[in-house]
Amino acid sequence: MTLQLIDNFGDVAAEEDAVLDYFLSTDTAREIETGKAFLVLGRKGTGKTALVRYMTEATPRWNSKSLNLRNYPWAVHATRTDRSGAEIEAYVASWRYLIAVELAKSIIKKTGPHVSPLTEELSKFLTQNYGGLDPSIGDILRPNRLNLNQINFAPSIFGNKLGEVGLDRAKNNLNFGPELNALTDAINNTALKIIRNYPKDPIQLHFDELDQGLSDLDEVRSKLIIGLVLAARDTKRFFADHYPVYPVVYLRTDLWGQLQFSDKNKITQGPAIEIFWNEESLKDLVNIRIGKRTNSKSQWDDIEDGQLMRGTQKKWSHIVKRTLLRPRDVIQYLNIALDEAKSRDLNADVFISRDISQARNRYSDYLKAELDDEIRPHWPNWDEALQACSEIAKITFSKEQFASAYATRKASQAVDVDEALRQLFRFSVIGYRQPGAHGGSRWLYNYEERGTGWDNGASTFQVHLGLKEHAKLREGRA
Ligand SMILES: Nc1ncnc2c1ncn2[C@@H]1O[C@H](COP(=O)(O)OP(=O)(O)O)[C@@H](O)[C@H]1O
Ligand SMILES: [Mg+2]
Repeated sequence: MTLQLIDNFGDVAAEEDAVLDYFLSTDTAREIETGKAFLVLGRKGTGKTALVRYMTEATPRWNSKSLNLRNYPWAVHATRTDRSGAEIEAYVASWRYLIAVELAKSIIKKTGPHVSPLTEELSKFLTQNYGGLDPSIGDILRPNRLNLNQINFAPSIFGNKLGEVGLDRAKNNLNFGPELNALTDAINNTALKIIRNYPKDPIQLHFDELDQGLSDLDEVRSKLIIGLVLAARDTKRFFADHYPVYPVVYLRTDLWGQLQFSDKNKITQGPAIEIFWNEESLKDLVNIRIGKRTNSKSQWDDIEDGQLMRGTQKKWSHIVKRTLLRPRDVIQYLNIALDEAKSRDLNADVFISRDISQARNRYSDYLKAELDDEIRPHWPNWDEALQACSEIAKITFSKEQFASAYATRKASQAVDVDEALRQLFRFSVIGYRQPGAHGGSRWLYNYEERGTGWDNGASTFQVHLGLKEHAKLREGRA
């Protein structure tokens, strides 16, 4: 009966998926909740949005909020530059201010605007500048000037109380950064005086979808993202000894890889976490879905016939080997396999090996399309390299074989052979063979390794199994 009860395994994107019905809580979730990490890295489809939805929607709380930057006015923010310090930090001040306003909003929402003179002050500041207590995130940096008239907490600079902070004059005003930072500190201090009388429920602000509508990073967008990461760290530090405030930034791993600034390594090694999955944890994720869909304790083993693929491999391993170890791929594969099972027999009870192997063609086209999204912005002609692999026709090939097949297709301006192989590896289209110390060897793929780099001397390569059908490749060595 089991498979019959399943319509699908869910949607491939957390926005459309009922992920809260079957969220798998992981170490990553715990590290965010306890404030260990303020930067969460993960490839597309590894579960960043799922985490944010879990943190903010599973049990809606005043102190955990999703700040979705999907329609964020990046162009407006780009004009709010601080020229008083290092250029790479031009947007730290503006993000710190934005985070402070978001915090103030949350706190006022919890306490109400009129419970004390301090909440009155914060509310007055918000109303005076934004016409209400709840400006949207896209409006926080929109005013051309912030009006501080009659605001008691307005900061003083050189003994003079600031009457306003001009945001639009930023280009000419060298005081912009220091003034805005002083205002941010003043807002944060006021917020702290209010909140320290309450139980220490960590306040979490989750910044997701920084990459929306973004194919490649330009210099300004890079600085904006760096600014947010540094501002999140500064804000956390500002409150650290007094009250737990955790801004958390969710970012695609490849974008993080492209950024350059001095504390990057320190952050990568310290308070950043990267979302990783393996065969086991992906199975756990799917088991919860099966249980939920069938309203039972059923698991993967209950919806497949137990036969090995080609007599040697478990069905689950067969599937996972064709993914980039992302939930998105597993869900997609299973949905296609389910289609196959149902077209074989509407009342199919369990997956049989044929369902899994028949699903490979469509799955392989899906994976190619996924890779297109990631690779095209960096390398518009990458198809030529994949076509070269198709010409070789076997999944395993040597550098020389690739070079000669690639040479006949390569558009005049395109990437050379060494760079092509390096890029194919970077995006996990291919892996390379690494000889072991004691005679053996293993295949190394970027998506499976943490931080293993490319080997310029590699001479034998293999196309990712998930692309085998799309590229029309056969097993074995060319
Ligand atoms: N911890 C999890 N538990 C259950 N499903 C998850 C989990 N993490 C990710 N998923 C599912 O994986 C798919 C991709 O996740 P998503 O959050 O959209 O990725 P990202 O935001 O990193 O691109 C979605 O279907 C999502 O529901
Ligand atoms: Mg997402």
